[in-house]
Amino acid sequence: MAFYPKVLRKSSGIPEFDKWARQMVEHKDNQIGYPVNQNTRLKEFYEWYTDNHLESMSMNNVGDPFGASSALMASHCIERKVLSFFRPLYGFDEDDCWGMISASGTDGNNHGIYFGVNYLFNTTGKKPVMYVSDEAHYSNKRLADLQGLDLRLIKSDDMGRMIPDELEKALDSERPCLIVYAMGSTFKGAIDDQKALNAVLDKYPQMAVYRHVDAALFGGYLPFTSKRELVNRRELHFNSITVSGHKFFGMDEPSGIFFTTKKVLDNQSKNDIPYLNQDMKAISCTRSAVNPLKFWWLINKVGFKKWCEEAETILENTAYLKSKLDKIGYPCWVNDFSNTIFIRRPSAEIVKKYYLAGSFDERFGGELSHIVVMQHVTKERIDLFVKELENDLKTGIKQA
Ligand SMILES: Cc1ncc(COP(=O)(O)O)c(C=O)c1O
Repeated sequence: MAFYPKVLRKSSGIPEFDKWARQMVEHKDNQIGYPVNQNTRLKEFYEWYTDNHLESMSMNNVGDPFGASSALMASHCIERKVLSFFRPLYGFDEDDCWGMISASGTDGNNHGIYFGVNYLFNTTGKKPVMYVSDEAHYSNKRLADLQGLDLRLIKSDDMGRMIPDELEKALDSERPCLIVYAMGSTFKGAIDDQKALNAVLDKYPQMAVYRHVDAALFGGYLPFTSKRELVNRRELHFNSITVSGHKFFGMDEPSGIFFTTKKVLDNQSKNDIPYLNQDMKAISCTRSAVNPLKFWWLINKVGFKKWCEEAETILENTAYLKSKLDKIGYPCWVNDFSNTIFIRRPSAEIVKKYYLAGSFDERFGGELSHIVVMQHVTKERIDLFVKELENDLKTGIKQA
């Protein structure tokens, strides 16, 4: 089950480092409350990197991955390979796609919302109203605030999906619409019904629309399942999408993938930056040159077939956890195609031990937690966790 040593192989000579490293190794497998794959599989990458002295230099993917970059110490050539692996998974055509390896899912939301505002302004002369569900990730709301947008939070149903009728009630069809879809929502794992919501928007053909998909977690595994069309532009006609790298794909530090269309890019304001020798459309100047290398490593060493198996396993293990919880009568809920089960909040000790995130919803009895079934959340770990919840039930839950 474990991919790592339980004791440190080598001391750093810095006591606080060794103490911290031991804690990391000890707690790794209990991390079931956040959407991070703890089976990172980059050991050989680091060996290759240091054996070849790549750690002895500073690299930076400054500028546009497709631009005539003047940066020599960079990995744009590998970044473009990574993007061409992922591009078809999200339904973007080769001749109408622009993308980059971003710093995170949030960075992708930032670019999606920023590009959306500029695209709509440059094509209509008006700033859009932004619509997002009240269950969507907080970054979308912060980013709307950052851009001074008129933000309309749309009510979601009990399970966290944006309600189409509520969207229609909130629509200002006289102004362009920038809509962000949650695929899925952070706490309840809800998938906004893009077809139903698009049908509402289609009733107002004069209203210009930009659709950004926040698929930070589900955008990792859905392309490797039979439900791949849920994050496919060809099916759903969105304009941009963001996916986190450190969630399903097992990157060991924050990173992400962002895609949009050439049409969107061509409708951004011109931004000639002489020192980059480019018309620079992206917000970030400096980007990691190492993250594309890690992505390309994982694509080659883990790859499509294994990711299909892992996507199937995490959904199977989610169903396994749900059935185990139902069996002991523990209140729990899960959305379709989601690997996130939300439950009545357990005792403070369990919350702390398993690093469970919290939320509150009176419709489900108040205090809640969730478990995100990633690759390291095996059936054995689920059994141990459920046993502890069962004891909790017997002794009476003492919530924090
Ligand atoms: C739906 C959603 N969007 C965005 C984010 C933020 O992603 P990142 O941590 O990659 O910035 C998260 C994080 O959990 C999320 O669940």
